[in-house]
Amino acid sequence: MAVRLLGEPWVIARLDDKIVALADRCPHRLAPLSAGRVDGPELVCGYHGWRFVASGECTAVPALGPGAPAPKRARAKPAWGATERHGMVWLAPEEPFADIIDLPEADDPAFDSIWLDVVRTSACAGLLADNFLDTAHLPFVHAATIGAGEDTVVPPYRATPEGNGFRVRIEQEVANPEDPGVAAGLRPLVQRRRSTYVYRPPFQLRLALEYLDAGTHNTILFCLQPEDAGSTRIYTRLLRDDLGGDAGRLRDAARFELDILNEDLALQEMLPLDGLPLAPEAGAGPEEVSIRADAAGLALRRVLSVLVRRARRNTPSDPPGGVRYARRTPADSRPLTRP
Ligand code: FES
Ligand SMILES: [Fe+2]
Repeated sequence: MAVRLLGEPWVIARLDDKIVALADRCPHRLAPLSAGRVDGPELVCGYHGWRFVASGECTAVPALGPGAPAPKRARAKPAWGATERHGMVWLAPEEPFADIIDLPEADDPAFDSIWLDVVRTSACAGLLADNFLDTAHLPFVHAATIGAGEDTVVPPYRATPEGNGFRVRIEQEVANPEDPGVAAGLRPLVQRRRSTYVYRPPFQLRLALEYLDAGTHNTILFCLQPEDAGSTRIYTRLLRDDLGGDAGRLRDAARFELDILNEDLALQEMLPLDGLPLAPEAGAGPEEVSIRADAAGLALRRVLSVLVRRARRNTPSDPPGGVRYARRTPADSRPLTRP
């Protein structure tokens, strides 16, 4: 399968049951290896049949005859790593900055789980992560879906550093019309909700919503694949313990969540920014005015600034096709950095 990540093409293959990622470029005539085929432990280029194993080593060059050694430079470039977790394939071109995010609900039999359709958007991953961590937009962007029962006031909260990312916990009183206990007169409509956001760089996010009065849990896993500067793919997985295995209600929940996501995308795709503003010292870009309620977004900017600085140290000059994690800004441009 061909995928793009940070402007670079990769081929993902399952070679002898092991997930492998190689640069999607045959070293011979640069044909995409994703146009070839898998044969047991080998990926076979579709152009002249050169064969590659998981390490990228070339094991056969048919035009030279059986058993002839491949030229020394005939190596496909392997990624630092690739693996499967939480129902996704994860590709790390270089050594990762953080571990893959935990998803404890996935191992809990009380939770049902469903994926939303994968969405592709022109909004960039940094802004989408910022939007996911933002609570103050709910009553406005989501007025037609979840926002009506939300308080416009965001109580003070802190972002606690954790695993090279952070965690945020916010407790609020919100309407919980989905609780059957409300209709039955057992509980009031307005109930306590604890929202826990977990962020791991670059673009792994999880939101756990605990309705403390109803005793139900609703988790959203939100992972972003920046394909390139103008395209991001969004992977969203819902995990809920209040649907009792009802496939119909689970599908309805996924559809509703997609409506909510589309409300976000409609706004994010209009933002006049070419990336998330990062300014490590000030905590925010000079174009932005931040308030207390933006603490999570500011923490995101700080973490990504560290990541960008580290990536620059590891990449003294731009490789062909651009810096892997950060695009250099022209000397005269605004101090914006695109993670
Ligand atoms: S281009 Fe791949 S074998 Fe020739
Ligand atoms: Fe939103």
